[in-house]
Amino acid sequence: MTTHPTPVLTLLAAALLVLAVPAGAATPAELLAGYSASAGAPAQAARGQAFFQSRHGGEWSCASCHGAAPTGPGRHAATGKAIEPLAPAAHARRFSDAAKAEKWFRRNCNDVLGRECSAAEKADVLAWLNTLKP
Ligand code: HEC
Repeated sequence: MTTHPTPVLTLLAAALLVLAVPAGAATPAELLAGYSASAGAPAQAARGQAFFQSRHGGEWSCASCHGAAPTGPGRHAATGKAIEPLAPAAHARRFSDAAKAEKWFRRNCNDVLGRECSAAEKADVLAWLNTLKP
């Protein structure tokens, strides 16, 4: 006996494929609200600034690559490559894609702290970045 996928199954598979693609589009305010909700406490911009500019006992701070004032361009501490401004007010595409923000938080936090950032730390950093004006 041969088995053929029924049209219903084909449709189901297509629907699952569509659902599997993450809906990444977001605004900085939405991402901040999400991180704050996960943290279970309101974000603090001043704490985010201190976090961003601290070396946390290692070689680099976030500012080592993004600059102490991330409304302007940064420079990669290892490769010297230019990095576009991180503050949303200075760069329209920043924090507009949840998956991209998460990917770079993971990578950069590991580089600076040797671990991932907590939801509270991400909320604090983003709260501070959202206050910056170019
Ligand atoms: C060694 C250099 C380096 C350090 C240190 C660094 N970053 Fe980055 N960061 C980058 C690069 C490179 C990119 C990706 C290129 C780009 O988007 O311009 C990036 C992108 C990001 C993004 C993506 C934002 C978006 O939506 O486009 C976030 C968030 C971020 N960094 C946060 C941090 C935080 C928080 C720290 C400190 C814990 C940090 N970075 C430290 C190099 C660095």
